[in-house]
Amino acid sequence: MEKVIEELRQLAETEGREAVLSKANEYAEKLRTEITYHDNRYHIKDDPEISDAEYDQLRRHLEDLEGEFPEIITPDSPTQRVGGAPIEAFEKVTHRVPMLSLGNAFNAQELRAFDQRTKRLSGREEIEYVVELKIDGLTAVLTYEDGLLIRGATRGDGEVGEDVTHNLKTVKSIPLKLSQSVTLDVRGEVFMDKEGFQELNSRRQENGKPLFANPRNAAAGTVRQLDARIAAERPLNLLAYDLIYLGEGGLTTHMEVLEYLEELGFKVNHRHFCANIEEVIKVVEEWTEGRNNHSFEIDGLVIKINDLALREELGATAKSPRWAIAYKFPAQQKTTTVKDILASVGRTGAITPVAILEPVEVAGSTVGRATLHNEDELRRKDVRIGDTVVIQKAGDVIPEVVKVVTSKRTGEEQEFQMPTACPVCGADVVREPGEAVHRCTNNLGCPAQVKEGIVHFVSRNAMNIDGVGPSLIDQLLEKSLIHDVADLYYLNSEELSNLERMGDKSAQNAINAIEESKDRPLDRLIFALGIRHVGAGAARILTQKYLSIADLMQAQIDDLLELDEIGPKIAESIVEYFSHERNRELIEKLRQGGVRMEMTEDEGAPMDDSLVGKTFVFTGGLETLTRNEAKEMVLNRGGKVSSSVSKKTDYVVVGTDAGSKADKARELNLHILSEAKFKDLLK
Ligand code: IVH
Repeated sequence: MEKVIEELRQLAETEGREAVLSKANEYAEKLRTEITYHDNRYHIKDDPEISDAEYDQLRRHLEDLEGEFPEIITPDSPTQRVGGAPIEAFEKVTHRVPMLSLGNAFNAQELRAFDQRTKRLSGREEIEYVVELKIDGLTAVLTYEDGLLIRGATRGDGEVGEDVTHNLKTVKSIPLKLSQSVTLDVRGEVFMDKEGFQELNSRRQENGKPLFANPRNAAAGTVRQLDARIAAERPLNLLAYDLIYLGEGGLTTHMEVLEYLEELGFKVNHRHFCANIEEVIKVVEEWTEGRNNHSFEIDGLVIKINDLALREELGATAKSPRWAIAYKFPAQQKTTTVKDILASVGRTGAITPVAILEPVEVAGSTVGRATLHNEDELRRKDVRIGDTVVIQKAGDVIPEVVKVVTSKRTGEEQEFQMPTACPVCGADVVREPGEAVHRCTNNLGCPAQVKEGIVHFVSRNAMNIDGVGPSLIDQLLEKSLIHDVADLYYLNSEELSNLERMGDKSAQNAINAIEESKDRPLDRLIFALGIRHVGAGAARILTQKYLSIADLMQAQIDDLLELDEIGPKIAESIVEYFSHERNRELIEKLRQGGVRMEMTEDEGAPMDDSLVGKTFVFTGGLETLTRNEAKEMVLNRGGKVSSSVSKKTDYVVVGTDAGSKADKARELNLHILSEAKFKDLLK
């Protein structure tokens, strides 16, 4: 592209400007169409196809081209716009102060040019800066009145954003009440950290749901949920980075602003004060080096002028402020080849295509495999054996194939077909309608599923059997010392100490850990069984009603559905699980092995029983509690929480912006409580 611009420039010199304008325009139109397409993928669909670096490059080319030939600029060129359009489903919010976007710098030279420009415009000789992390999430604009959060919005196109208050209120790091009764707007970045992102995606994979491509998309998808309960269950976070002060401030520098934000109760972005641009460049180098060392993804750094009066003086161009610039990191992607594609079998029989790669180093470690997730993903990316591919780490951790370099195809590449028989046990493989995953149908007959099931059973959130890890499980299965999870409870330390890499001491430790796990709470056992769709949360809810495995085994679908948050999918799965003779035998074997199968009075009993027999419904947003906290408070006192209002409902707690449930409660003449009254009732 640089070459194209250079050629056009030369042509313009020899042939005259007019002669090349239509050619330049043709190129520009192509770029505009492409950029608009990718804008839509990124902002509207939350599903980008190219990396940010590639996108930036496209934009830069267009900017360069339009810079060279300003005659061809059209009012609707993406260079003339600030960002994406808001989605229709949310209320629109006009920002009190429009939110512009930032200009970019890609190297030290461009940072010095930025400094020079500022000096020239302001006539100052030395300028102080603050360097911050550029978090790869999405902007949140939080409006507080008299110290209370009244609204949270997305950036949208910079002028008009979307009202996502209901979701932002579930974010623990967003204070609902500030330490001072002030009226102001705060801007920050909402994001999901790498660990939370991975957990969310592995849960989604288990449940056959489409995966998020990266933490940014997961955060964006969550903030745009219409139902705040979904957001409440996902690990969102916010770091504040700016304050739009609407009154008399008394603050004179950006460093002071950030301190003040902390004082008000925000978590604030990492920052570094720099006395001049050379110091900035040093910090930029250091922080670029350490870019992977954060718990969340960053895509660059933001360099801001420290002096607020100078900021004011400099103002903004139509698109971006003159007092700040984004330094974008070079992309951490690598090119390698696909040596093979294998099908790997997970605990629930889900079959995942995995690309075996020529090992390359990406973001600090060697990558030799990359998940291709499922058939749809595989087809969408059209990855074939022998292909040259671009890979990156999603959430900087899980390696994934970004795209195929199709220009490198020789015609020798081979398409991969999802297996029709399980690669481990040979049983039939099916893809249920509406599901993205293929599954082996052999359940406990498939060695791969058996092994993964045992790995799950001993895992931290399940029976938490420390000292029994995947490689020990492999050996135990291989030597036929165990065939299922119950066999663990019949092992002795001699059998273990005869295994490879097992001394007497680690054998005894493993036996002790197994022994200790016999007494785990009932919900952990239910979760550990690995019943499809029954996560740790659902297992806990089940123990509200079922105090023993024996009770749960008797449950019919309708009984299960009475529990709030247990839907038909979970209910059917539970009934189906216990309908299998071999699962019932497994339970019996666990019982005889000494595993506790019921809940004690103490565990089952609520903290107090003041709400026994009372059913609550929550509607609208709560101010000081999250929905989950409020529910927990009811459950701990023996009460029940339901999602729909009926004559059987005892109390309806009505928060802000409550809808039809509040109307229905009034119609039925039910007890209606404000949040404050609800808290009083519980005291
Ligand atoms: S300052 C006029 N500081 O990067 C805009 N932005 O275009 C001033 N971002 O989507 C933005 N971390 O949400 C600023 N420390 C930081 C940031 C940051 C991330 C995002 C921002 C916006 C984009 C900048």
